Amino acid sequence: MPIPDVLAAADPEVAGIIQREVERQNTTLQLIASENFTSPAVLAATGSVLTNKYSEGYPGKRYYGGNQVIDEVEDLARERVCALFGAEHANVQPHSGASANAAVYFALLEPGDTVMGMRLDQGGHLTHGSPVNFSGQVYRFVSYGVTPSDERIDFDQVRDLARAERPKMILAGATAYPRVIDPEPFRAIAEEVGALFLFDMAHIAGLVAGGVHPSPVPHADVVTFTTHKTLRGPRGGCILSTAAHAAAIDKAVFPGLQGGPLEHVIAAKAVAFREAAHPDFADYARRVVENAAALAEALAGEGLRLVSGGTDNHLMLVDLRSVDAELTGKRARLALDRAGITLNENTVPDDPRPPYITSGLRVGTPAVTTAGMGPDEMAQIASLIARVLRDPAGEDTVTAVRDEVAVLCAKFTPYPDLA
Ligand SMILES: Cc1ncc(COP(=O)(O)O)c(C=O)c1O
Repeated sequence: MPIPDVLAAADPEVAGIIQREVERQNTTLQLIASENFTSPAVLAATGSVLTNKYSEGYPGKRYYGGNQVIDEVEDLARERVCALFGAEHANVQPHSGASANAAVYFALLEPGDTVMGMRLDQGGHLTHGSPVNFSGQVYRFVSYGVTPSDERIDFDQVRDLARAERPKMILAGATAYPRVIDPEPFRAIAEEVGALFLFDMAHIAGLVAGGVHPSPVPHADVVTFTTHKTLRGPRGGCILSTAAHAAAIDKAVFPGLQGGPLEHVIAAKAVAFREAAHPDFADYARRVVENAAALAEALAGEGLRLVSGGTDNHLMLVDLRSVDAELTGKRARLALDRAGITLNENTVPDDPRPPYITSGLRVGTPAVTTAGMGPDEMAQIASLIARVLRDPAGEDTVTAVRDEVAVLCAKFTPYPDLA
Protein backbone atom coordinates (compact mmCIF):
# COMPACT_ATOMS: atom_id res chain seq x y z
CA MET A 1 0.00 0.00 0.00
CA PRO A 2 1.52 3.39 -0.92
CA ILE A 3 2.40 5.51 2.08
CA PRO A 4 -0.33 8.12 1.51
CA ASP A 5 -2.97 5.37 1.76
CA VAL A 6 -1.45 4.07 5.00
CA LEU A 7 -1.40 7.57 6.35
CA ALA A 8 -4.92 8.35 5.21
CA ALA A 9 -6.17 5.29 7.08
CA ALA A 10 -4.16 5.97 10.24
CA ASP A 11 -4.43 9.73 10.45
CA PRO A 12 -6.87 11.35 8.03
CA GLU A 13 -6.22 14.77 9.54
CA VAL A 14 -2.49 14.83 8.76
CA ALA A 15 -3.02 12.99 5.47
CA GLY A 16 -5.54 15.63 4.48
CA ILE A 17 -3.10 18.43 5.21
CA ILE A 18 -0.36 16.73 3.16
CA GLN A 19 -2.80 16.17 0.32
CA ARG A 20 -3.74 19.85 0.32
CA GLU A 21 -0.04 20.77 0.17
CA VAL A 22 0.43 18.38 -2.79
CA GLU A 23 -2.45 20.17 -4.43
CA ARG A 24 -0.96 23.60 -3.70
CA GLN A 25 2.41 22.58 -5.16
CA ASN A 26 0.74 21.00 -8.20
CA THR A 27 -1.61 23.86 -9.01
CA THR A 28 0.22 27.10 -8.19
CA LEU A 29 3.50 28.59 -9.40
CA GLN A 30 6.50 28.01 -7.14
CA LEU A 31 9.02 30.81 -7.74
CA ILE A 32 10.81 30.82 -4.39
CA ALA A 33 14.48 30.75 -5.41
CA SER A 34 15.45 28.41 -2.58
CA GLU A 35 12.79 25.77 -3.27
CA ASN A 36 12.55 22.84 -5.64
CA PHE A 37 10.59 19.64 -6.28
CA THR A 38 12.54 16.57 -5.19
CA SER A 39 12.25 13.36 -7.15
CA PRO A 40 9.93 10.56 -5.96
CA ALA A 41 13.13 8.58 -5.17
CA VAL A 42 14.31 11.30 -2.81
CA LEU A 43 10.86 11.42 -1.20
CA ALA A 44 10.89 7.63 -0.78
CA ALA A 45 14.28 7.62 0.96
CA THR A 46 13.17 10.46 3.25
CA GLY A 47 10.12 8.44 4.26
CA SER A 48 12.06 5.24 4.97
CA VAL A 49 12.70 3.17 8.11
CA LEU A 50 16.15 4.72 8.37
CA THR A 51 14.37 7.35 10.48
CA ASN A 52 14.20 4.73 13.26
CA LYS A 53 17.93 4.37 13.78
CA TYR A 54 20.14 6.14 16.29
CA SER A 55 23.65 6.51 14.88
CA GLU A 56 25.53 9.14 16.89
CA GLY A 57 29.11 9.27 15.65
CA TYR A 58 30.42 8.46 12.20
CA PRO A 59 30.65 5.29 10.07
CA GLY A 60 32.81 2.75 11.93
CA LYS A 61 32.75 4.87 15.14
CA ARG A 62 29.18 4.82 16.46
CA TYR A 63 27.92 5.03 20.03
CA TYR A 64 25.03 2.63 19.36
CA GLY A 65 24.86 -0.92 18.04
CA GLY A 66 23.17 -2.04 14.87
CA ASN A 67 24.70 0.54 12.55
CA GLN A 68 26.26 -1.80 10.00
CA VAL A 69 23.65 -0.94 7.36
CA ILE A 70 23.42 2.73 8.29
CA ASP A 71 27.21 3.05 7.95
CA GLU A 72 26.88 1.98 4.33
CA VAL A 73 24.40 4.71 3.50
CA GLU A 74 26.39 7.47 5.20
CA ASP A 75 29.60 6.30 3.53
CA LEU A 76 27.81 6.21 0.19
CA ALA A 77 26.52 9.77 0.67
CA ARG A 78 30.01 10.99 1.62
CA GLU A 79 31.67 9.23 -1.32
CA ARG A 80 29.09 10.47 -3.80
CA VAL A 81 29.25 14.09 -2.70
CA CYS A 82 33.07 14.11 -2.65
CA ALA A 83 33.07 12.71 -6.20
CA LEU A 84 30.36 15.15 -7.34
CA PHE A 85 32.27 18.23 -6.21
CA GLY A 86 35.86 16.94 -6.18
CA ALA A 87 36.17 17.46 -2.41
CA GLU A 88 38.67 15.83 -0.05
CA HIS A 89 36.23 15.45 2.85
CA ALA A 90 32.49 15.65 3.44
CA ASN A 91 30.25 15.80 6.47
CA VAL A 92 26.69 14.96 5.43
CA GLN A 93 25.13 15.19 8.89
CA PRO A 94 24.15 18.88 9.28
CA HIS A 95 20.40 19.13 9.67
CA SER A 96 20.28 22.36 7.66
CA GLY A 97 22.35 25.07 6.02
CA ALA A 98 22.31 27.11 9.22
CA SER A 99 23.62 24.11 11.19
CA ALA A 100 26.36 23.58 8.61
CA ASN A 101 27.54 27.17 8.95
CA ALA A 102 27.33 27.00 12.74
CA ALA A 103 29.51 23.88 12.73
CA VAL A 104 32.16 25.53 10.57
CA TYR A 105 32.32 28.59 12.83
CA PHE A 106 32.42 26.37 15.91
CA ALA A 107 35.20 24.27 14.40
CA LEU A 108 37.45 27.04 13.11
CA LEU A 109 36.76 30.22 15.10
CA GLU A 110 36.88 31.42 18.69
CA PRO A 111 34.09 33.64 20.06
CA GLY A 112 34.85 37.26 19.21
CA ASP A 113 36.92 36.44 16.12
CA THR A 114 36.52 38.74 13.15
CA VAL A 115 34.77 37.32 10.09
CA MET A 116 33.95 39.05 6.82
CA GLY A 117 30.65 38.29 5.11
CA MET A 118 28.22 39.88 2.70
CA ARG A 119 25.82 42.53 4.00
CA LEU A 120 22.40 41.08 4.64
CA ASP A 121 20.50 43.76 2.76
CA GLN A 122 22.74 43.10 -0.25
CA GLY A 123 22.30 39.34 -0.37
CA GLY A 124 24.01 37.77 2.66
CA HIS A 125 22.26 35.14 4.81
CA LEU A 126 21.19 35.48 8.46
CA THR A 127 24.05 33.17 9.46
CA HIS A 128 26.51 35.57 7.82
CA GLY A 129 26.52 37.87 10.83
CA SER A 130 22.99 39.17 11.36
CA PRO A 131 22.69 40.82 14.79
CA VAL A 132 19.57 38.71 15.47
CA ASN A 133 21.41 35.47 14.63
CA PHE A 134 23.96 33.65 16.82
CA SER A 135 26.62 34.37 14.17
CA GLY A 136 26.38 38.12 14.72
CA GLN A 137 26.26 37.71 18.47
CA VAL A 138 29.15 35.29 18.97
CA TYR A 139 31.54 36.53 16.28
CA ARG A 140 32.58 39.99 15.13
CA PHE A 141 31.27 40.17 11.57
CA VAL A 142 32.31 43.02 9.30
CA SER A 143 30.37 43.24 6.07
CA TYR A 144 31.19 43.99 2.47
CA GLY A 145 28.63 44.85 -0.16
CA VAL A 146 28.00 45.63 -3.78
CA THR A 147 29.22 48.58 -5.84
CA PRO A 148 26.28 51.04 -6.07
CA SER A 149 26.75 51.64 -9.80
CA ASP A 150 26.51 48.01 -10.99
CA GLU A 151 25.20 46.26 -7.85
CA ARG A 152 27.90 43.56 -8.10
CA ILE A 153 30.28 42.52 -5.34
CA ASP A 154 32.76 45.32 -4.71
CA PHE A 155 36.09 43.46 -4.63
CA ASP A 156 38.02 46.69 -3.92
CA GLN A 157 35.96 47.03 -0.77
CA VAL A 158 36.48 43.35 0.10
CA ARG A 159 40.28 43.79 -0.26
CA ASP A 160 40.44 47.09 1.67
CA LEU A 161 38.30 45.72 4.50
CA ALA A 162 40.34 42.53 4.67
CA ARG A 163 43.61 44.48 4.88
CA ALA A 164 42.20 46.77 7.57
CA GLU A 165 40.39 44.14 9.66
CA ARG A 166 42.67 41.08 9.22
CA PRO A 167 39.71 38.68 9.61
CA LYS A 168 40.21 35.11 10.73
CA MET A 169 37.77 34.01 8.03
CA ILE A 170 36.35 35.45 4.81
CA LEU A 171 32.93 34.17 3.83
CA ALA A 172 31.57 34.30 0.30
CA GLY A 173 28.11 33.24 -0.78
CA ALA A 174 24.64 34.71 -0.65
CA THR A 175 20.96 34.10 -0.34
CA ALA A 176 19.85 36.83 -2.74
CA TYR A 177 22.55 37.72 -5.25
CA PRO A 178 21.73 37.31 -8.95
CA ARG A 179 25.27 37.18 -10.33
CA VAL A 180 28.15 34.71 -10.50
CA ILE A 181 30.27 34.80 -7.34
CA ASP A 182 33.82 34.34 -8.56
CA PRO A 183 35.70 32.39 -5.88
CA GLU A 184 39.17 33.29 -7.18
CA PRO A 185 39.44 36.93 -6.07
CA PHE A 186 38.09 35.91 -2.66
CA ARG A 187 40.75 33.23 -2.46
CA ALA A 188 43.52 35.67 -3.40
CA ILE A 189 42.37 38.21 -0.79
CA ALA A 190 42.05 35.53 1.91
CA GLU A 191 45.56 34.31 1.12
CA GLU A 192 46.97 37.81 1.19
CA VAL A 193 45.64 38.50 4.70
CA GLY A 194 46.07 34.96 6.04
CA ALA A 195 42.34 34.33 6.46
CA LEU A 196 40.46 31.08 6.09
CA PHE A 197 38.12 31.04 3.10
CA LEU A 198 34.60 29.68 3.56
CA PHE A 199 32.21 29.59 0.61
CA ASP A 200 28.51 29.11 1.40
CA MET A 201 27.10 27.77 -1.88
CA ALA A 202 23.66 26.94 -0.44
CA HIS A 203 21.79 28.57 -3.30
CA ILE A 204 24.00 27.56 -6.18
CA ALA A 205 25.12 24.01 -5.26
CA GLY A 206 22.99 22.56 -8.06
CA LEU A 207 24.39 25.05 -10.56
CA VAL A 208 27.92 24.13 -9.49
CA ALA A 209 27.12 20.41 -9.72
CA GLY A 210 25.63 20.99 -13.16
CA GLY A 211 28.68 22.94 -14.34
CA VAL A 212 26.97 26.29 -14.94
CA HIS A 213 28.58 28.20 -12.05
CA PRO A 214 32.31 28.11 -11.19
CA SER A 215 33.04 25.68 -8.39
CA PRO A 216 34.39 27.15 -5.17
CA VAL A 217 35.65 23.74 -4.02
CA PRO A 218 39.19 23.98 -5.48
CA HIS A 219 39.59 27.47 -3.99
CA ALA A 220 37.97 27.40 -0.55
CA ASP A 221 39.15 25.79 2.68
CA VAL A 222 35.56 24.90 3.47
CA VAL A 223 32.34 24.90 1.42
CA THR A 224 28.89 24.62 2.98
CA PHE A 225 25.60 24.11 1.21
CA THR A 226 21.99 23.08 1.56
CA THR A 227 20.83 20.02 -0.31
CA HIS A 228 17.28 21.23 -0.96
CA LYS A 229 17.65 24.28 -3.20
CA THR A 230 19.06 24.10 -6.74
CA LEU A 231 20.58 20.72 -5.84
CA ARG A 232 17.03 19.33 -5.57
CA GLY A 233 17.59 16.93 -2.69
CA PRO A 234 15.95 16.59 0.72
CA ARG A 235 15.95 19.46 3.23
CA GLY A 236 19.40 19.42 4.84
CA GLY A 237 22.98 20.68 4.95
CA CYS A 238 26.44 19.47 4.00
CA ILE A 239 30.03 20.57 4.61
CA LEU A 240 32.94 19.94 2.24
CA SER A 241 36.48 20.67 3.29
CA THR A 242 40.12 20.03 2.68
CA ALA A 243 41.53 17.07 4.58
CA ALA A 244 43.31 19.50 6.92
CA HIS A 245 39.98 20.66 8.45
CA ALA A 246 38.15 17.33 8.37
CA ALA A 247 38.67 16.29 11.99
CA ALA A 248 37.78 19.69 13.46
CA ILE A 249 34.61 19.92 11.38
CA ASP A 250 33.45 16.41 12.18
CA LYS A 251 33.98 17.07 15.89
CA ALA A 252 32.06 20.34 15.69
CA VAL A 253 29.03 18.67 14.05
CA PHE A 254 29.06 15.73 16.47
CA PRO A 255 29.42 15.89 19.44
CA GLY A 256 29.78 19.68 19.21
CA LEU A 257 26.37 20.72 17.97
CA GLN A 258 24.14 17.80 17.03
CA GLY A 259 23.04 14.49 18.46
CA GLY A 260 21.81 11.65 16.28
CA PRO A 261 22.05 12.26 12.53
CA LEU A 262 18.93 12.00 10.35
CA GLU A 263 20.00 8.90 8.42
CA HIS A 264 16.78 8.81 6.37
CA VAL A 265 17.65 12.29 5.15
CA ILE A 266 21.28 11.27 4.61
CA ALA A 267 20.00 8.40 2.43
CA ALA A 268 17.92 10.91 0.49
CA LYS A 269 20.99 13.15 0.16
CA ALA A 270 22.84 10.16 -1.32
CA VAL A 271 20.03 9.69 -3.85
CA ALA A 272 20.16 13.38 -4.76
CA PHE A 273 23.96 13.32 -5.16
CA ARG A 274 23.59 10.40 -7.57
CA GLU A 275 20.91 12.26 -9.52
CA ALA A 276 23.08 15.38 -9.65
CA ALA A 277 25.98 13.39 -11.12
CA HIS A 278 23.82 12.27 -14.06
CA PRO A 279 24.22 14.14 -17.39
CA ASP A 280 20.49 15.02 -17.24
CA PHE A 281 21.23 17.18 -14.22
CA ALA A 282 23.73 19.28 -16.17
CA ASP A 283 20.97 19.88 -18.68
CA TYR A 284 18.59 20.79 -15.85
CA ALA A 285 21.08 23.31 -14.41
CA ARG A 286 21.56 24.84 -17.86
CA ARG A 287 17.78 25.19 -18.27
CA VAL A 288 17.41 26.78 -14.81
CA VAL A 289 19.82 29.53 -15.87
CA GLU A 290 18.29 29.84 -19.34
CA ASN A 291 14.83 30.20 -17.79
CA ALA A 292 16.06 32.79 -15.30
CA ALA A 293 17.56 34.82 -18.17
CA ALA A 294 14.28 34.56 -20.12
CA LEU A 295 12.20 35.55 -17.09
CA ALA A 296 14.52 38.48 -16.30
CA GLU A 297 14.36 39.72 -19.86
CA ALA A 298 10.58 39.51 -19.93
CA LEU A 299 10.22 41.24 -16.53
CA ALA A 300 12.52 44.02 -17.73
CA GLY A 301 10.37 44.21 -20.87
CA GLU A 302 7.40 44.87 -18.56
CA GLY A 303 9.27 47.92 -17.24
CA LEU A 304 10.49 46.36 -13.98
CA ARG A 305 13.97 47.26 -12.76
CA LEU A 306 16.09 44.25 -11.85
CA VAL A 307 18.92 44.58 -9.36
CA SER A 308 22.22 44.57 -11.31
CA GLY A 309 20.19 44.67 -14.53
CA GLY A 310 19.52 40.92 -14.78
CA THR A 311 20.82 37.56 -13.68
CA ASP A 312 23.58 35.01 -14.30
CA ASN A 313 22.10 32.34 -12.07
CA HIS A 314 18.75 30.94 -10.93
CA LEU A 315 17.31 34.09 -9.36
CA MET A 316 16.59 37.75 -9.89
CA LEU A 317 15.60 40.64 -7.64
CA VAL A 318 12.83 42.97 -8.74
CA ASP A 319 13.00 46.55 -7.47
CA LEU A 320 9.32 47.34 -6.97
CA ARG A 321 9.94 51.07 -6.86
CA SER A 322 10.12 50.82 -10.64
CA VAL A 323 6.40 49.94 -10.65
CA ASP A 324 5.15 52.13 -7.84
CA ALA A 325 7.15 53.96 -5.16
CA GLU A 326 4.55 52.94 -2.57
CA LEU A 327 4.40 49.23 -3.42
CA THR A 328 6.27 47.20 -0.79
CA GLY A 329 7.64 43.69 -1.19
CA LYS A 330 5.29 42.42 1.47
CA ARG A 331 2.17 43.82 -0.19
CA ALA A 332 3.27 42.54 -3.60
CA ARG A 333 4.00 39.07 -2.23
CA LEU A 334 0.58 38.87 -0.57
CA ALA A 335 -1.21 39.94 -3.77
CA LEU A 336 0.80 37.45 -5.87
CA ASP A 337 0.07 34.71 -3.35
CA ARG A 338 -3.64 35.32 -3.82
CA ALA A 339 -3.06 34.98 -7.57
CA GLY A 340 -1.36 31.59 -7.13
CA ILE A 341 2.17 32.91 -7.63
CA THR A 342 4.43 32.03 -4.71
CA LEU A 343 7.62 34.01 -4.11
CA ASN A 344 9.14 36.10 -1.34
CA GLU A 345 9.75 39.73 -0.56
CA ASN A 346 13.42 40.67 -0.42
CA THR A 347 15.50 43.71 0.31
CA VAL A 348 17.22 45.43 -2.59
CA PRO A 349 20.68 47.01 -2.06
CA ASP A 350 20.43 49.96 0.36
CA ASP A 351 16.74 49.28 0.85
CA PRO A 352 15.15 52.02 2.98
CA ARG A 353 12.53 49.54 4.21
CA PRO A 354 13.05 46.87 6.90
CA PRO A 355 13.56 43.17 5.95
CA TYR A 356 9.96 42.19 6.77
CA ILE A 357 8.55 44.91 4.47
CA THR A 358 11.23 45.49 1.76
CA SER A 359 11.15 47.20 -1.61
CA GLY A 360 11.83 44.08 -3.65
CA LEU A 361 10.87 40.59 -4.66
CA ARG A 362 13.12 37.58 -5.17
CA VAL A 363 12.12 35.34 -8.07
CA GLY A 364 13.73 31.99 -8.87
CA THR A 365 13.43 29.33 -11.55
CA PRO A 366 14.65 26.02 -9.98
CA ALA A 367 11.18 24.61 -9.24
CA VAL A 368 9.36 25.68 -12.40
CA THR A 369 12.27 24.28 -14.43
CA THR A 370 11.97 20.94 -12.64
CA ALA A 371 8.27 21.04 -13.51
CA GLY A 372 9.30 21.21 -17.18
CA MET A 373 8.65 24.85 -18.03
CA GLY A 374 10.81 26.68 -20.57
CA PRO A 375 11.39 30.19 -21.94
CA ASP A 376 7.86 30.53 -23.40
CA GLU A 377 6.32 29.87 -20.00
CA MET A 378 8.80 32.35 -18.44
CA ALA A 379 7.48 35.08 -20.74
CA GLN A 380 3.93 34.23 -19.70
CA ILE A 381 4.88 34.23 -16.00
CA ALA A 382 6.51 37.66 -16.35
CA SER A 383 3.34 39.05 -17.83
CA LEU A 384 1.19 37.49 -15.06
CA ILE A 385 3.47 38.92 -12.35
CA ALA A 386 3.46 42.37 -13.94
CA ARG A 387 -0.35 42.43 -14.17
CA VAL A 388 -0.67 41.78 -10.45
CA LEU A 389 2.05 44.28 -9.53
CA ARG A 390 0.30 47.01 -11.49
CA ASP A 391 -3.02 46.30 -9.79
CA PRO A 392 -2.30 44.51 -6.47
CA ALA A 393 -5.63 45.52 -4.92
CA GLY A 394 -7.70 44.59 -7.97
CA GLU A 395 -9.68 41.47 -7.17
CA ASP A 396 -10.66 40.98 -10.82
CA THR A 397 -7.02 41.08 -11.87
CA VAL A 398 -6.00 38.65 -9.14
CA THR A 399 -8.81 36.25 -10.05
CA ALA A 400 -8.04 36.38 -13.78
CA VAL A 401 -4.34 35.75 -13.14
CA ARG A 402 -5.10 32.91 -10.74
CA ASP A 403 -7.21 31.23 -13.43
CA GLU A 404 -4.38 31.54 -15.98
CA VAL A 405 -1.88 30.20 -13.43
CA ALA A 406 -4.11 27.16 -12.91
CA VAL A 407 -4.25 26.47 -16.66
CA LEU A 408 -0.46 26.83 -16.94
CA CYS A 409 0.26 24.61 -13.93
CA ALA A 410 -2.10 21.91 -15.21
CA LYS A 411 0.34 21.42 -18.10
CA PHE A 412 3.39 21.24 -15.80
CA THR A 413 2.38 19.28 -12.72
CA PRO A 414 5.38 18.32 -10.57
CA TYR A 415 3.68 15.43 -8.77
CA PRO A 416 0.97 14.00 -11.04
CA ASP A 417 1.17 10.63 -9.27
CA LEU A 418 0.45 12.17 -5.88
CA ALA A 419 -2.52 14.20 -7.05
C1 LIG B 1 23.33 31.24 1.61
C2 LIG B 1 22.53 30.46 2.60
N1 LIG B 1 23.15 29.85 3.62
C3 LIG B 1 22.48 29.15 4.55
C4 LIG B 1 21.11 29.00 4.47
C5 LIG B 1 20.40 28.28 5.57
O1 LIG B 1 19.80 27.12 5.18
P1 LIG B 1 18.65 26.43 6.10
O2 LIG B 1 17.42 27.21 5.85
O3 LIG B 1 18.61 25.02 5.63
O4 LIG B 1 19.12 26.54 7.51
C6 LIG B 1 20.42 29.59 3.41
C7 LIG B 1 18.96 29.42 3.32
O5 LIG B 1 18.25 30.13 2.71
C8 LIG B 1 21.14 30.34 2.46
O6 LIG B 1 20.52 30.94 1.45
